[in-house]
Amino acid sequence: MSPFIIAIDGGAASGKSSTARALSERFNLLHVDTGSFYRAIAAELLRRKLTPDDLPAIRAALPEISLGTQVNGRTAHMKIGGRPIDTAEIRTPEVNATVARFAAIPEVRAALLTYQRGQADVARAHDLRGLVMEGRDIGSVIFPDADLRFFLDADPVKRAERRRKEGLMDKVAERDVLDNIRLRESAKGAIMIDSTNLDLPQVVEKISGIVAEKLT
Ligand code: CDP
Ligand code: CDP
Repeated sequence: MSPFIIAIDGGAASGKSSTARALSERFNLLHVDTGSFYRAIAAELLRRKLTPDDLPAIRAALPEISLGTQVNGRTAHMKIGGRPIDTAEIRTPEVNATVARFAAIPEVRAALLTYQRGQADVARAHDLRGLVMEGRDIGSVIFPDADLRFFLDADPVKRAERRRKEGLMDKVAERDVLDNIRLRESAKGAIMIDSTNLDLPQVVEKISGIVAEKLT
């Protein structure tokens, strides 16, 4: 049986991670947060003293970075050089400030393309029914043939407020501008869920209903 694939795209703080985590539990799917992969690569490049402007050095470094996956619970965690990258390392102010610019480099995206598609094999190897993958280009580039493609949206002011509530002075609007083209592409043909006036349980209920119907 081929893995059941759900793509969830959306801007910063639109609720992707929380929604994907809930769906993964409810439907026995691997939870894949591709933003965490871009963050892990950014952290690794920063560790190598590179900035997003050091293009030739980044191109030279990428083939040396060997990627693996560790599954904790139902969540995929990136390993670099055999070492699992922990959450604290990828949520630093330095990574927050640079990740969107590292992610705009075509070679960085190319390095992650096969890796992300390979998560379907990871799900299979762990006897999961499939995967729920969240990002900015999942339904457009990574899995355009996903069984279901959702696009989460919410008013930008509301999203910035959610981040502030988490205690993060996060530059939500700034990353959205840099990610703009990818976001527009991924929204095409996806099921739009606007959560400006919906809380998380309501979003999860709405999407779960659609998933359950598709699965039967
Ligand atoms: O993964 P992404 O950056 O898209 O968002 P998230 O980390 O899942 O959600 C950002 C914050 O917004 C979390 O604190 C969620 O609990 C909250 N949220 C909310 O209050 N209402 C929603 N409908 C969705 C998310
Ligand atoms: O917190 P936020 O939702 O902005 O970010 P994230 O999901 O942790 O992803 C971090 C950054 O990686 C995003 O702001 C994008 O610039 C980039 N990214 C991307 O370009 N493509 C993806 N599929 C996922 C993330």
